[in-house]
Amino acid sequence: MTELGKTGLQVPRIAVGCMRMCNLEEKRAAELIHTALDCGMNFFDHADIYGGGKSEEIFSRAIGMNAQVREKIILQSKCGIRKGFYDFSKSHIVNSVDGILKRLQTDYLDVLLLHRPDALADPEEVAEAFDELYRSGKVRNFGVSNEKPMQIELLSKYLNRPVCVNQLQLSIPNASMITNGLNVNMENDSAVERDGSVLDYCRLKDITIQPWSPFQYGFMEGVFLNNREKFNVLNQTIDRMAEEKSASPEAIVIAWILRHPARMQPVVGTMNPARLKGIAKALKIALTREEWYEIYRSAGNVLP
Ligand SMILES: NC(=O)c1ccc[n+]([C@@H]2O[C@H](COP(=O)([O-])OP(=O)(O)OC[C@H]3O[C@@H](n4cnc5c(N)ncnc54)[C@H](OP(=O)(O)O)[C@@H]3O)[C@@H](O)[C@H]2O)c1
Repeated sequence: MTELGKTGLQVPRIAVGCMRMCNLEEKRAAELIHTALDCGMNFFDHADIYGGGKSEEIFSRAIGMNAQVREKIILQSKCGIRKGFYDFSKSHIVNSVDGILKRLQTDYLDVLLLHRPDALADPEEVAEAFDELYRSGKVRNFGVSNEKPMQIELLSKYLNRPVCVNQLQLSIPNASMITNGLNVNMENDSAVERDGSVLDYCRLKDITIQPWSPFQYGFMEGVFLNNREKFNVLNQTIDRMAEEKSASPEAIVIAWILRHPARMQPVVGTMNPARLKGIAKALKIALTREEWYEIYRSAGNVLP
């Protein structure tokens, strides 16, 4: 377990992402959810747009939502993405939460995230929306996703509660937030500052980073595990370590993220219960420094 930001809320180190749940029949969703709970993973990440709301609906039906069930789980959802535009207006945020609560069959969210920065966002209006949602008891904690430090700073100037989460893309082959800090002032592309040092910023401000798509490369282009054409050396390294540690390759991938001292909470998106069980074993693996760097280099990352 780890603390989510500075909220006092204790959460499991690995979160279950429900983006792909809209494709499951209720019975399969129930299997996945119960496997997660058996493994101690009771933190579920949603968004109003996953399957156009279908993921949230299937989830609440599959888990058989009621007051006792609700007490045992931690629910996070997101809003702000609409068809062809982003919308952080007060009315949209407040209305979105009502829709989310209805679909999840609950009267509160543990965490609400703003899904992707809205160029037209007015931070004072966002603060008003958050205040209203907090006062009404509909949302207990607030965070963001895909945001840079200065965007969070601007928003925080007006918020009455701290931003506790920043959900960001991170995987071994998509680790620019780490690579950037290893190439300071170098004359190469890795030194180019693209995220405003978001990793260090979140650590400084006690904001939990939730890496999304930890098994994907590119912008959800595909899974790098078993992709020998593009990631042969990486797969060889991961397979060897998996064998040495009697764990699945998936567990090694997640152990690599957990080994970083930022106390990140990866959000895994598998809908396969057996794979999820394998991933849970990551909690028992402590990679050495040499192993962590070997995995990093095997993805083609070069140390200066
Ligand atoms: N904030 C954001 O902007 C944002 C964006 C995207 C996602 N997210 C969140 O992050 C969560 C995870 O995203 P994701 O689903 O793209 O993440 P992921 O865990 O990297 O990918 C899971 C997908 O890869 C497949 N897969 C195939 N082989 C696999 C293997 N060996 N190991 C693991 N998975 C394998 C899974 O299929 P099987 O089901 O068959 O295992 C599943 O379809 C989402 O559910 C969502 O909650 C957030």
